[in-house]
Amino acid sequence: MILHHLEQEFVATPKKIVSTLKVPAAMTVPDLAEDVRKNLLNAPYSLPPKYFYDHRGSVLFDQICDTDEYYPTRTESGLLNRYCQHIIDQLQLHHIIELGSGTSRKTRHLFDACQLLNHCPVYWPFDVCEPMLLQTAHELMMQYDWLDVQPLEGDYSAGLSHLPKPDGHSLYVFLGSSIGNFTETEAIAFLKEVRQHMLAGDTLLLGIDRLKDHGVLESAYNDAQGKTAEFNLNVLSVLNHQLGADFNQAQFTHQAVFNESESQIEMYLQSRADQLINFNDLDEQLHIQDGEKILTEISRKYSFAGIGQLLQQAELEIVDHFEPSNEYFSLVLARCVE
Ligand code: SAH
Ligand code: AVI
Repeated sequence: MILHHLEQEFVATPKKIVSTLKVPAAMTVPDLAEDVRKNLLNAPYSLPPKYFYDHRGSVLFDQICDTDEYYPTRTESGLLNRYCQHIIDQLQLHHIIELGSGTSRKTRHLFDACQLLNHCPVYWPFDVCEPMLLQTAHELMMQYDWLDVQPLEGDYSAGLSHLPKPDGHSLYVFLGSSIGNFTETEAIAFLKEVRQHMLAGDTLLLGIDRLKDHGVLESAYNDAQGKTAEFNLNVLSVLNHQLGADFNQAQFTHQAVFNESESQIEMYLQSRADQLINFNDLDEQLHIQDGEKILTEISRKYSFAGIGQLLQQAELEIVDHFEPSNEYFSLVLARCVE
């Protein structure tokens, strides 16, 4: 049952009521209309990846995670499964604050370890997608009856300083290599912000995808079921719904290629014709030619040395590093440099 009450949404469960706490932006960032005006009306065309995640986009991302080709989720999940107890055991843990939590599917390894080791942290999932936050909070409370879930809704690119700073030790969690969706400069700035929010004794658990065979990388973003293509094209529906645009998905093709010099997968929507798109709510138009492309996402891939440099520049030090034998993915436990 969903009740609408003022600005908050409530999901009734047999035990508790969950509502999301809205985290106000700590700095001004463009909204969708401003991003479209700035980046989508003139070449080179681009859009920030956060607009993928309406409810359908979040569900599609979860389906991507189950495809054979998308190795990051199962690899990171394997690392968490194997090393979670070791990680939790070395921490005094009162809070788990997860940035871009989505379905929290891998975080459940942390909760399992907490349960086994008798830690009882409060869980603060922070995400831009409210329906997914509510659905996940509901599921987690059914699965872990001891877990206090406090969902936080907001945009982490708008700053973290308005996040709650609860008493006790916090583990910040940023999984799935979402750090790779930032440019190098943005990634350093973001990690610095996380560090500034951390108190003495707090730690950060970061999942980062590694550089590897280009074929493996490109396949991960071109799965045979076409889930990544659906996810990419879904952003056009977001524009249609939110800005009264008239994109026809059939007139665009999903493309994902590895750019070696930038060490990143680049995901595009390529126009299949000369087209005129109307943004009715903005009174603007996009003229896009046959073959022209909209950059919808970058996904940077790091070497082990690159991860060290990234953390060093953000003044974080590595406490523990975990990787599988094929070195496909890194799970890093870090703390502030003293
Ligand atoms: N951490 C999960 C989900 C990754 S998908 C995993 O590893 O599987 C990326 C998640 O980040 C989505 O749930 C999306 O809604 C969220 N997200 C993307 N951009 C965001 C932003 N700017 N602020 C807050 N959440 C964001
Ligand atoms: C969330 N993020 C880290 C994913 C990635 O791999 O860059 C998003 C994604 N895009 C296409 N497939 C998955």
